Amino acid sequence: MKTIIVYYSNTGNNAALANRLSTELGADVFRLVETKPRTIGASILDMAFGRSPPLESLPEGLETYDIVIFIGPVWMFHVASPFRSVFRRNRQDIKRYAWISVSGGALGPNAPIAKELVRRMGKKLAFCLDLNIAQYCEVPPKPTAGDTGEYHIAEHPGDLDRLARVALEAIRNLRA
Ligand SMILES: Cc1cc2nc3c(=O)[nH]c(=O)nc-3n(C[C@H](O)[C@H](O)[C@H](O)COP(=O)(O)O)c2cc1C
Repeated sequence: MKTIIVYYSNTGNNAALANRLSTELGADVFRLVETKPRTIGASILDMAFGRSPPLESLPEGLETYDIVIFIGPVWMFHVASPFRSVFRRNRQDIKRYAWISVSGGALGPNAPIAKELVRRMGKKLAFCLDLNIAQYCEVPPKPTAGDTGEYHIAEHPGDLDRLARVALEAIRNLRA
């Protein structure tokens, strides 16, 4: 199954998972890069006003892939804003897609994400995996948003192994 991972990451957690999965799967990978440095204030404003931040480039040739796996953070219970222009421009080309997030999870489940993806893409979602730090990673019990915000998976190789195992199982189930 020809696979591409399209990812965005601000503080490195989703980048670590995306790179690990692309290596394990032998998948192509495309990183969404913003033209301006990101701030927390800009993330809040993007989510509040539905903004799509400019990106250096968008992926090409997505129609040649059997599946596109998007990997990125959840911001304010929504898909992080840098994905919006990709969904808008590329959704016609994409045959099948899935979503994986290393999110924070301290504020509870990110349940609205799956519906948002289907609405933005206008088609069925293969799977949606919310690998939140509060549940899957080594953080204090009942972590605050501050605790998960300070978490960097690069410092926890065992956590990255665990998240990669769960994600690979979901992807391999698709292939079957
Ligand atoms: C402005 C902002 C809002 C966030 N909102 C949520 C949220 O609603 N749900 C959640 O689980 N995590 C939330 N997070 C946590 C991020 O999803 C989490 O830190 C993620 O691992 C960051 O990914 P990155 O390192 O790839 O950028 C938020 C983080 C920021 C900066």
